[in-house]
Amino acid sequence: MFSLTIFLLLGLLLLGDSLRRTLSSPLNNIPGPWYAKLTSAVLKWHEFQARRTTYVHALHLRYGPAVRIAPNEVAFASATAVKEIYCSGGSGYDKTEFYDLFRVYGRRTMFTTLNKEHHARRKRILADRYANSNIMKGPSLDGISERAARFVNRCAQSKDGVVDLFVDLHSYAFDCVTHHLFHPYGADSLGSSKDEEIMREVAFDDSLRNRLLEYYNPPLHKVFGKILHLFAKPRETPLADNFVLGASQKADPAPFTLLDRLHGPGFDLDHLDKAAECLDHMAAGIDTTGDGLCFLMWELSQPANRGFQKRLQDELLSNPGTNYDKLPFLDAVVMEALRYTPPIPMSLPRYVPTGGREIDGFVVPEGTIVSCQAYSTHRMDQTVFPDPDVFNPDRWLADKGDAERKRLFFAFANGGRGCVGKHLALAEMKLLLREVYSKFSTAPDPSMTARDMEMSDQLISARPLGERCLLSFTPLAL
Ligand code: HEM
Repeated sequence: MFSLTIFLLLGLLLLGDSLRRTLSSPLNNIPGPWYAKLTSAVLKWHEFQARRTTYVHALHLRYGPAVRIAPNEVAFASATAVKEIYCSGGSGYDKTEFYDLFRVYGRRTMFTTLNKEHHARRKRILADRYANSNIMKGPSLDGISERAARFVNRCAQSKDGVVDLFVDLHSYAFDCVTHHLFHPYGADSLGSSKDEEIMREVAFDDSLRNRLLEYYNPPLHKVFGKILHLFAKPRETPLADNFVLGASQKADPAPFTLLDRLHGPGFDLDHLDKAAECLDHMAAGIDTTGDGLCFLMWELSQPANRGFQKRLQDELLSNPGTNYDKLPFLDAVVMEALRYTPPIPMSLPRYVPTGGREIDGFVVPEGTIVSCQAYSTHRMDQTVFPDPDVFNPDRWLADKGDAERKRLFFAFANGGRGCVGKHLALAEMKLLLREVYSKFSTAPDPSMTARDMEMSDQLISARPLGERCLLSFTPLAL
């Protein structure tokens, strides 16, 4: 009896303490649904349904650009918040343990390093491989052009002119990124079914729920891991792991590759560290560029956007020798697609540093998880992006408002921890579009539905819900 009383008293004390902390939290000043003050269960429910992005966006539409989404988590959607969270002090606030889920071979890489000093040390050595000047060099760019030509040959040979872009664009992105990482030991998934299997393992991965459980409850995940596998698949990519372990052992990669840099002086990494860094960049480069191009070509193929497709073809056909980077309408199409359907649409979580900070006029205590998500920063400020749910490349050609648009553009994140592969991704996207739309018109296959192309959240990237994107390719009458 005595011990039961003690137990009840302790319970009441703990409850009282958590209620007091809940009621006195400085985060109570931030708008949001009432339940977000008490529990993160609703947010997690949406994450497990692969709908975090649209849930958070709906909260922004209801409560504004700053919204409390869980007891210890706040989402922002303004240029000032992007600057504060991701750019202050160069690379912004430290990443949260969410990024532990991306660790490969048990090692930390540039992407998964949480602390910004450690990150800066690694980035200083790697970044030059992704500088535009390195991408623009002959052997790097020629490799991308060759793969874009291979992609178009595949389209030309396809049965009835119908192509599943979801598959072929992931293959293209896989071949391009591994060319940049390992040439001449990159993959050829556009030409070899053995390499296509590796790409499929990565692109069709279905481990979202298993990995979320691992993040939210590591002890449970450890103890019940085997049973969990029956309900929620773990991430298993043995073919990709072996491919990278093999390629990263090669001693003589081309001078423009990442592997060449990792082998070079100033880096004291063992084989697993090098393989982990390469696998991370490979994974970062497949879904993002593959899904980004897939959403883009789907949009450009819609009957309502036929005029944009025609203008793109006209620009490409009347400027055949012009550098891909000097074509304004091509640039506008790519920017608009990355705004409209950003391949990484979701929150990129960071911890508020020691001492707390003020973000967009709200006091946010240290240790709070804060983030912005591209999907919302690209839509919330309608003075900068009017009619944000309309695909309209012309908005990027208006002289007025260019600086404001760029400040809110968050598809590649921002600051020192933003996408290092940005120039490579843009080159891949533009060279492929040039190759396709100077030879073909595209239209959706009648079997496709709008639901097939709804955004399905993965860990931070999103892919088409139906995991397919069938377009018909009609050769242009030149
Ligand atoms: C359209 C294509 C791409 C998009 C939209 C994109 C977007 C992003 C975003 C939003 C981040 C920040 C993630 C975060 O903070 O959690 C990021 C980081 C990163 N991306 Fe990309 N990415 C693309 C293509 C690529 C490619 C082709 C590579 C090539 C290897 C790449 C390599 C990386 C790496 C290594 C990081 C980590 C950077 C760091 O922590 O310093 N990305 N990317």
